[in-house]
Amino acid sequence: MAITSDARPHTAERTGIGLRLPHIAEVVATRPPVGWLEIHPETFLANPHGLELLTDLARDSLVSVHTVGISIGSADGVDRDHLMRLRALVDRLNPVLVSGHLAWSTMGGAYLNDLLPLPYTAETLRVVVAHLAEVQDVLGRAYVIENPSSYVTLATSTMTELEFLHALVNETGCRLLCDVSNVHLSAHNMGYDAYRFIDEFPVDAVAELHLGGFTPVNDEATPGGTLLVDTHAHAVAEPAWKLYAHALRRFGPQPTIIEWDNDLPPLAVLIEEAVKADRVREAMREDRHAHAG
Ligand SMILES: [Fe+2]
Repeated sequence: MAITSDARPHTAERTGIGLRLPHIAEVVATRPPVGWLEIHPETFLANPHGLELLTDLARDSLVSVHTVGISIGSADGVDRDHLMRLRALVDRLNPVLVSGHLAWSTMGGAYLNDLLPLPYTAETLRVVVAHLAEVQDVLGRAYVIENPSSYVTLATSTMTELEFLHALVNETGCRLLCDVSNVHLSAHNMGYDAYRFIDEFPVDAVAELHLGGFTPVNDEATPGGTLLVDTHAHAVAEPAWKLYAHALRRFGPQPTIIEWDNDLPPLAVLIEEAVKADRVREAMREDRHAHAG
């Protein structure tokens, strides 16, 4: 049994999976051998029965909370009602990590059905720094920020994504969730080097890694004619596994989650992906050992 509270300091030892509602009954019944479970609070807040099951599970399993509803980059401000609901859930689950995206998803009080890109400017930095302080103040704990999946460069940006992340870490001391698949697909879509991005990522701030599947679509405007879309509807692709190995070499054996949200496969498939990530991490460890010896 890997997901016990005894394992709390050892989250990095075994890969976890995103826990989605269709799998929760099976996870409760079988307690699969994964390191930890990451949930989207918005789906469980909208499903009282799922929330009951999750609350039971969190008593003896490692859980992390990954929100898609805190619009940390929105000029309109953070939705206080949603933030208070998140606070209540975090108090209830006592997760090992709470995280969300560097993006915005609300406008005029309405939720937009997407994580939208931010222009990387001094003004956006000011907004994100202020909202991060507000979120952490209400939650009473650290809020880890994830790098986005990118499809366009906004003409108003005056910084690169990396420059923005470094500035954010320098100003706030926040930790970062590096979604390795997002790095791969953003680098492909925007035409930069994913390996160099990992090499220049704020290494000391890394608290967690994500791996997820993406969908290639034809797009004449993208170099090579293919746009990679962050659908979380497939297994992790081979180039993302290779980049993950590179990320582990630079960041060390960071806690990792396999994300799969759409066209959800049987739970066993997610567990296989987590085992595959464990193997990559083990190979990296042996490699480091051999070089040290
Ligand atoms: Fe992610």
